[in-house]
Amino acid sequence: MKNGGNSMTKAIRIHQTGGPEVLKWEDIEVGEPGAGQVRLQQSACGLNYIDVYVRSGMYPVGDMPAILGMEAVGVVDALGAGVDGLAVGDRVAYPMTLGAYAEARLIDADKLVKIPDSINDETAAAMMLKGLTAHYLLFRTYPVQAGDDILVYAAAGGVGLILCQWANLLGANVIGCVGSEAKAELARANGCHHTILYRDEDIPGRVREITAGKGVAAAYDSIGKATFESSLDSLQPFGVLATYGNASGPVEPFNPGVLAPKGSLYVTRPTLATHISTRELLLQGAERLIDAVAGGQIHISVNQTLPLAQCAEAHRQLEARETTGSTVLTI
Ligand SMILES: NC(=O)c1ccc[n+]([C@@H]2O[C@H](COP(=O)([O-])OP(=O)(O)OC[C@H]3O[C@@H](n4cnc5c(N)ncnc54)[C@H](OP(=O)(O)O)[C@@H]3O)[C@@H](O)[C@H]2O)c1
Repeated sequence: MKNGGNSMTKAIRIHQTGGPEVLKWEDIEVGEPGAGQVRLQQSACGLNYIDVYVRSGMYPVGDMPAILGMEAVGVVDALGAGVDGLAVGDRVAYPMTLGAYAEARLIDADKLVKIPDSINDETAAAMMLKGLTAHYLLFRTYPVQAGDDILVYAAAGGVGLILCQWANLLGANVIGCVGSEAKAELARANGCHHTILYRDEDIPGRVREITAGKGVAAAYDSIGKATFESSLDSLQPFGVLATYGNASGPVEPFNPGVLAPKGSLYVTRPTLATHISTRELLLQGAERLIDAVAGGQIHISVNQTLPLAQCAEAHRQLEARETTGSTVLTI
């Protein structure tokens, strides 16, 4: 712990939901780990769009004040009763566990994954939530086959750059939607074969052009409300729409009847929470992800790094579509 032992430490908390200004850098007490828990001294946190949904009140946060943040990397400095397979000094990371924006925290040991020395702290902090999301989308939600045409939204974003690289490795023809020419260049450098400037261009029209009228086998849509119809209209018969995020707001209720004339389409609204809900599921994805990152097949682009205390500015940049790749909050 920065200030040693079981004492005061710092965290980003909210006392009410709202804009980035509700994020406060405050003293907290961490305490000793309970049964099945460990205490972590954290060195970096990943910033994720879900942090914006929780901060703004779109997703429920529970009791206030609440420490936000879902993923981080750190070193175990105390073990609770009954913890097996971890020792003081182990370097670990985790996704999807509220309370990450802190110098130190308590956490259930079964949420943690050991990180090899070849992966540095910034990469480890950025890769778990976004990388495991890319993993389940490509291997479980719609298992991509070589030769598939697929559509990836926010292709130059945190999840997007990982999705594009991984889909490319699987042999897919990757079409990426991006918000600017600079983002298009970055997406293409990360495995995207074609880019659509979706602020100006008609998505289904461009998809039909690129796929010789066929449409895509899967659309991985993190934008939500603004792109739902474009995604449906870009699919080939039996195509899968994985609507997995709400950057533009939640998708409006819709009549499933519309899926029939468009080609017997499938729509799913997946979440990483389900895909790592057992230790076995978590490790299955994490082992594959860590191998791909450690082996150099997938590069995690940490393109913004800010001190955790400046978390509000990092949220502002993310919501303003100013970021590319991942943002890491350092401690
Ligand atoms: N369901 C799950 O399991 C799961 C897990 C992880 C992440 N996600 C979702 O995946 C998405 C990506 O997350 P991330 O953390 O990697 O963020 P990100 O993609 O790095 O950032 C969001 C990007 O969305 C695009 N965007 C389009 N319309 C937007 C709008 N109205 N407001 C803000 N951004 C807009 C922007 O890219 P352009 O400028 O290129 O449009 C922006 O850079 C988020 O929607 C997140 O909720 C879902």
